[in-house]
Amino acid sequence: MTILLGIDIGGSGIKGAPVNTATGELAGERHRIATPAGARPEDVQLVVAELVEHFGLKGPVGVTFPGIVQGGVTLSAANVDAGWVGLDADRLFTQATGHEVHLVNDADAAGLAEAKFGAGKDVAGVVMVLTFGTGIGSALIHDGKLVPNTELGHLWLREKHAETWASDRARERDDLNWKQWAKRANKYLQHLELLFSPDLFIIGGGLSRKADKWLPHIELSRSKLVPAALENEAGIVGAAMVAAAKETYAESKPARKSGKGALALPSSKKK
Ligand code: BGC
Repeated sequence: MTILLGIDIGGSGIKGAPVNTATGELAGERHRIATPAGARPEDVQLVVAELVEHFGLKGPVGVTFPGIVQGGVTLSAANVDAGWVGLDADRLFTQATGHEVHLVNDADAAGLAEAKFGAGKDVAGVVMVLTFGTGIGSALIHDGKLVPNTELGHLWLREKHAETWASDRARERDDLNWKQWAKRANKYLQHLELLFSPDLFIIGGGLSRKADKWLPHIELSRSKLVPAALENEAGIVGAAMVAAAKETYAESKPARKSGKGALALPSSKKK
């Protein structure tokens, strides 16, 4: 049994917990520290180090990040400080904590956890996990193997940037009732169904707990759709899974680092 620390970096809180990576269960209490204002790398690294110290666990640590992560380098920052773009965050956290840190996109972490231990357990074929929150995160998993960094929240639907238009933040910003929001989500999901034919969609984020409000308004022709099962533990569990089994995640370092090779994704913050 391997107990490893998983840490989930979110917009309002940075949460950690020891995870039994064989069962996907938390092996102790979660600990949450508020995300420092602005979520700058230099401040976030201190919180990550504080969490690592708090738990005092041995071994590698898995950490999620709400943007593209390739070979430990953070390559986009749609909803966080621009200082992350092109940063070797893996190395930053490794130095800050004295532990080997493995970084993974937040939705990819949630997807891995849901597919293995949650709503996608024992489901063969293509599972697509979407997290609706400040942004829209996506994870594409085929027979348990993740295709990392799909970033489907940044898909354009005609003139609409999916994340800016159909995220949970968009629901609040535009003061939509559940039916109105579900109409947008449905358009987005139908498009994804057309492109990827998932056997199963898993919908995560805070609104997975309110599925009775929006689920009846979702109509897909082929794919099954269920709310996430692990709720806000999925990121932590997936992060620890990545630390435990690096082979589930593409390991190759990108050819370019530190600023070069950074990608410009539309920011949903500004819209
Ligand atoms: C980011 C994704 C992230 C998602 C959810 C998007 O804006 O580009 O990488 O997974 O938000 O946090």
